[in-house]
Amino acid sequence: MSEVIISPELLARYNKPGPRYTSYPTVPAWTETFGKADYKEALGDVAARPEDALSVYVHLPFCAKHCDYCGCNATVTRRSEVVDAYLDRVEREMAMVAPLLGERRNVVQMHWGGGTPNFLNEAQMTRLVGLLSQHFAIDPAGEISLEIDPRIGTVEQMAQIRALGFNRISMGVQDINPKVQEAIGRIQPFAQTEKLFRACRDLGFTGVNMDLVYGLPFQTMETFGETLAAISELRPDRIAYFSYAHVPWVKPKQKLIDVTALPDTFTKFSLFRMAIDRLAEVGYDWVGMDHFALRDDDLAVAARELRLHRNFMGYTTRPALHMIGFGMSSIGDMAGRFIQNESHLGRYQKMIDAGELPVVRGYKLSDDDLLRRTVILHLMCNLELPYNLTQSLFGVDLRETLGDDLEHLEAYAEDGFLELLPDRIQVTPLGRFFVRLLAMELDAHLAKTSERQVFSKTI
Ligand SMILES: C[S@@+](CC[C@H](N)C(=O)[O-])C[C@H]1O[C@@H](n2cnc3c(N)ncnc32)[C@H](O)[C@@H]1O
Ligand code: SF4
Repeated sequence: MSEVIISPELLARYNKPGPRYTSYPTVPAWTETFGKADYKEALGDVAARPEDALSVYVHLPFCAKHCDYCGCNATVTRRSEVVDAYLDRVEREMAMVAPLLGERRNVVQMHWGGGTPNFLNEAQMTRLVGLLSQHFAIDPAGEISLEIDPRIGTVEQMAQIRALGFNRISMGVQDINPKVQEAIGRIQPFAQTEKLFRACRDLGFTGVNMDLVYGLPFQTMETFGETLAAISELRPDRIAYFSYAHVPWVKPKQKLIDVTALPDTFTKFSLFRMAIDRLAEVGYDWVGMDHFALRDDDLAVAARELRLHRNFMGYTTRPALHMIGFGMSSIGDMAGRFIQNESHLGRYQKMIDAGELPVVRGYKLSDDDLLRRTVILHLMCNLELPYNLTQSLFGVDLRETLGDDLEHLEAYAEDGFLELLPDRIQVTPLGRFFVRLLAMELDAHLAKTSERQVFSKTI
């Protein structure tokens, strides 16, 4: 990638706001008219396909302390009984949802996200695993993962998590520089991260991942180079490399972030570029938009073989499992529908107490949406569009169905973002940096949704 030259002018021209396409259609297109009856219908459709394996997501919103930069759906508490009361609701939600899916369905992927799932104590984690196992047959060889905050984790807790059947773990790190850590309200000595990482390796977790964030206050090429060197020396299997989203109008705590210390757009972009080059030198492949994986990791192999997929939990090698979400703000993705739960803790709990499914919005994909979803996700993940991509699934060639939109996309070949080959459109190394812009050309909802939401920029 070091051969790709992107000047500040080029960046300014193309660094436009756009969706990240963790789903298509993106969340702003979903509607409140999609409700409980629609969710039940979706669950019924999944029940009608008993051979399909499932993926389960549980949102655990609690954290010990709030980090100033945080953009997640997190809530701070010190009281363990608040977690117990939440788990009571998750238990009831599962008791409402699981029977509609049929007898103890197979789950091959499970993820606990947050918030901070390891804020739960041992009894709470054991309870939640027990509840899930009561309703689902969780495949021990599947991907069983959770997010942890190393600041509150102990070696003993990691052993408990492993004993509960988790085989993948993802740690929040962000940056190891003390000045940056102070500026984002998150003090996390590197020795603590390192100790927990090594414990996870010794315990036999098959995937140990780390989250880094670029674009934070006081990050420089020099200091962030040190973070990349120290982290890559530990050799996590995957590194998620998130662009700092500064959205104080949505996350008021971010007003504590000193905006004058934030890197400018070009420095932020240079931080991103540096990771691509430095991590490549030490054996990591750049995967999808913002992930890195050791060259022999499944994700890197899938990316090379052009079979990378993406769902709400992140990049995956497993195509199109039905994803069932539990807990506040969780998202389901099943049988051609998206389902979003209430994201306010109090309101989520009230809905459950009233015996209601806590769904607040959702979307049923049309045939056109299903086709475009396949096309956009393939483009975003695998950086190419074979013209026959939709032939087997939809019986049509892309050139017949996407018409004008495909022509608009192909026009980016003039900017050097694409190469037009006889059988496919190929994203160039330069175009890869702007792949969201390319995908936007194929988004049939964008004109309507962009008025309703301000998207983040590419960098
Ligand atoms: C749920 S947290 C991970 C687990 C745990 N709560 C922790 O912080 O260690 C998910 C990740 O989202 C990322 N993140 C949080 N706020 C962000 C923001 N404003 N912009 C970009 N990434 C962010 C961080 O990398 C964080 O590790
Ligand atoms: S970054 Fe993690 S620990 Fe910090 S507030 Fe957000 S979810 Fe909680």
